[in-house]
Amino acid sequence: MMPEPPLAVLAELTHRCPLQCPYCSNPLALERANREMATGEWLRAIAEAAALGCMQIHFSGGEPTVRPDLEKLVAGAAAAGLYTNLITSGVLCDRARLERLAAAGLEHVQLSFQDSGAEIGDHVGGYAGGHEKKCAFAALVRDVGLPLTANFVVHRQNLNHLTQMIDMAVALGAGRVEIANVQYYGWALKNRAALMPDRAQLDAMVEAVTAARERLKGVIAIDFVVPDYYASRPKSCMGGWGRRFLNISPSGHVLPCHAAESITGLHFDNVRQRPLADIWLHSEAFRVFRGTGWMPEPCRSCDRKEIDWGGCRCQAFAITGDAARTDPACALSEDHARLTGIAADEARRDGRDFVYRNYRTAAR
Ligand code: SF4
Ligand code: FES
Repeated sequence: MMPEPPLAVLAELTHRCPLQCPYCSNPLALERANREMATGEWLRAIAEAAALGCMQIHFSGGEPTVRPDLEKLVAGAAAAGLYTNLITSGVLCDRARLERLAAAGLEHVQLSFQDSGAEIGDHVGGYAGGHEKKCAFAALVRDVGLPLTANFVVHRQNLNHLTQMIDMAVALGAGRVEIANVQYYGWALKNRAALMPDRAQLDAMVEAVTAARERLKGVIAIDFVVPDYYASRPKSCMGGWGRRFLNISPSGHVLPCHAAESITGLHFDNVRQRPLADIWLHSEAFRVFRGTGWMPEPCRSCDRKEIDWGGCRCQAFAITGDAARTDPACALSEDHARLTGIAADEARRDGRDFVYRNYRTAAR
C-alpha cells in the first residue's frame, strides 16, 4: 500500500546556533555552514514538499535566523501554500527582521525557553543574557501580531519551576505552551545523569500540569506527555516512522525524524540528488520501519501497534544498540528494566555540571 503524504516537513536550515544546550537533539557531528544547502536548493526542496502533499513547514536548526535568506524561504513556502512556523531561540532576531518575516508570510512562532528565570535559563543554554532576550522577543512576536507557542524543555534542574513556566507563557501572550521532557539520544545522552528527574519530581510535574490545565482552561493550551523513562507504554514517536513527518538536514539529507542520524548503519538519501517524493515513497531509510511489518514481538501481536507504532526507533537504538527492537519505554519490552534501572540510578546523582553543545567545536 502506498504511504499517505507527510503532514509536515521540518526544514533544519543550519546547525549553527548561539546557544549550547546540553540536550541538543542535532547529530553528534554538526554540519558546517559551507555544507548547507543554498537558497535555490532549499526553495526547490520546499516546492517538492508542497507537491508531495505536505501542509506545514517548520523552519528550524540550529538557529534558523542565522540564515540571511530566511525571508526568501518563508516567502517560497507561503507561495507554495504551506503553513509556516519558525522554531527559534529568539536571541538573534530584531523587530525589523521579524516584520520582514511576517510580511514574507510567516504565520506562527515557536520560541524555546530553558527555564522561567534567567539564572537556570542562561546556565542551561550556556548563553549569558539569553533569557532576557527571549522574553523581549516574545513581546515582539505578539506586537507584530503573530501567534506564539512557548516551548520549555524540562529536566531535573528546572522541573521545580514548572508552574512558573506555564504562568510565564500566559504572561507573554502565548496561546500554547509545550512542556517537553528531554529525549535521551545524541548529545543528551552525554548529560543524562545531570538531567534525569526522579519519580517524586515526575509525580509533582503531573500534578502541576493537571492543576494548570484546570486553572487555565480557555486561556492557554498545555501540551505535555509523561517522560519515556517513567512511562509504561511509549509515545507514538513522530506519529510512526515515515508516516506523518519528514526532516531535511542542513545539507539536504532526508530523515524520518530529527534524531534519525543517531542510528548508525542507516543510509539517508539527499534531496540534492534524489526527488523528495521518491525518497519518501521508496527510500530504504523510510521503508525500513514504516508500518507494522518490521515489528518484532511483543509489538507484532499487540493491539497498540497501530497506536504507538512500536514507539521510538532512536530510543531503541540508544538503549539497546538495535533500532529494530521494541522501544524500551514499553513495559512489555525485554529491555524495559534496563531503562527504568538507568532512570533510578541517574536520578540519584546530584551533578549539576553539563557537557555543553558548542557549534564551533562540533562542526565537521
Ligand atoms: Fe507499543 Fe509494542 Fe509496547 Fe505494544 S508492545 S504497547 S506496540 S511498544
Ligand atoms: Fe527518532 Fe523517535 S526520535 S524515532
